[in-house]
Amino acid sequence: MKLKVLVTPGDGIGPEITAEAIGVLQEVAAAGGHTLELETKRIGGVAIEQDGTPLPADTVAAALDSQAVFLGAVGDDKFNSLPASQRPEAGLLGLRAKLGGFANLRPVFAFKELTVNSPLRPEIIDGTDIMFVRELLGGLYYGQPRGWDKEKGVALNTMIYTRGEVERVARVAFQLAQKRRRKLTNVDKANVLEVSQMWRDTVTEVAKEFPDVTLEHQFVDAMSMHLMKRPRDFDVVVTENMFGDILTDESSVITGSLGMLPSATIGGKVNLYEPAHGSAPRYAGKNTINPLATILTGAMLLRYSFGLEAEADAIVAAVRKVLEEGFRTPDLARTNPEGLTVLGTAEMGAKVCETVKALLVNA
Ligand code: IPM
Ligand code: MN
Repeated sequence: MKLKVLVTPGDGIGPEITAEAIGVLQEVAAAGGHTLELETKRIGGVAIEQDGTPLPADTVAAALDSQAVFLGAVGDDKFNSLPASQRPEAGLLGLRAKLGGFANLRPVFAFKELTVNSPLRPEIIDGTDIMFVRELLGGLYYGQPRGWDKEKGVALNTMIYTRGEVERVARVAFQLAQKRRRKLTNVDKANVLEVSQMWRDTVTEVAKEFPDVTLEHQFVDAMSMHLMKRPRDFDVVVTENMFGDILTDESSVITGSLGMLPSATIGGKVNLYEPAHGSAPRYAGKNTINPLATILTGAMLLRYSFGLEAEADAIVAAVRKVLEEGFRTPDLARTNPEGLTVLGTAEMGAKVCETVKALLVNA
C-alpha cells in the first residue's frame, strides 16, 4: 500500500517529536511492504518567519493532495503580541478548517507502568480507558462575530453551533461507543447556555438511531470533577470544541503526562493527526522531550487513515513493552526514578523502532 503523508513539524519541539514518530512509521511500513511517501511543509511560527503567514498556500495545497497530515505542534511566546488571526495557532486552526475534520478523537488510557506518575491514586486511575470526541470546527474557536476593540475596551467571541454540526459529531461518538463499551457521556453547560441546550437536545435525538448505546449527560463543571474521581466510569465522551480542549488536557493527568496523549481528527477531506500537547518552545532542541504521544499519534494514522489495525496495535504494544522494560523520557521518570533507564527523545524513538520491528518480525 502507498501511504502519502504530509508532515508539518511546526514549532518548538514539533520537529523533534515528528522525526521520531516518522522513524517508527517508516519501520512499520518497511516491515509490511508499504511505501511511505513523505512531504514536509511549514506551518505556524516557522511559516510566519519564512513565508510571512502561519499557513502558506502551498502547505494547504500539499495537505489536500495527501492521504493524511501529520502535525507536530505550533506556537511560540515570541508571537504573543500579534492579533489572534496572525498568530501561529491561526495556522493550525486554518488548516483544520481547510481539511474539514470535525471529530477530534483523543484516547485517554492509563499504561499500568505510568500510574505512579499521576498525582491521582492508582486505585482511581487503573484500567481507565476513555475516548474523547472533541468537536473541532465550531464553537468559540470559529464563531463570528469575534474581536477585541481596544479603544472601547470590549472583546467578544461567539459560541455558535448548528444542529447539523452537532448531529455529525454525535454520530461519530455513538459509532465509536458501539465498538467499545456502549456508553456515551455528553458534556455541556445546558443549565446556563442556550447553545448547550440545543446541543443536548440534538444528541438526545441522535441517540434514537443507536438504541444499543446508553447515553448520559453531564455538565462540564461536574464532569471535570468526575474525571478526577472516577475516570473508569467513562467510555466515550462527546463535547464541544473548547470544553474538549480543556477536559482532555485535564485528563492527561490520568495518563501520567501530557506527553502521552495522541489525537486524530476525522470526518473531513483529509484526516489530521497531532499530539494533544503544545510546542513547548522552552524544551526545543534539548533531546529531552517525550515523543510517545506523537508516536502513538502515528498509530492512530495507520488505524484511521489506512485501516492498518495490526500495525497500529504493534506500535501501541511496542510503547507498552518499552515502558515495561523500564525506559522513560525525563518527564516520565521524575516522580520515581528508581530502577528506570532515562532516555533522550531520539533514543526513545530508536527504542520504540527496535521494539516494534521485533514485534512485527515475530508476529
Ligand atoms: C490543542 C491545542 C490547540 C487547540 C491550540 C494550539 C490552537 O491546545 O490541540 O488542544 O486549542 O485546539
Ligand atoms: Mn489544547
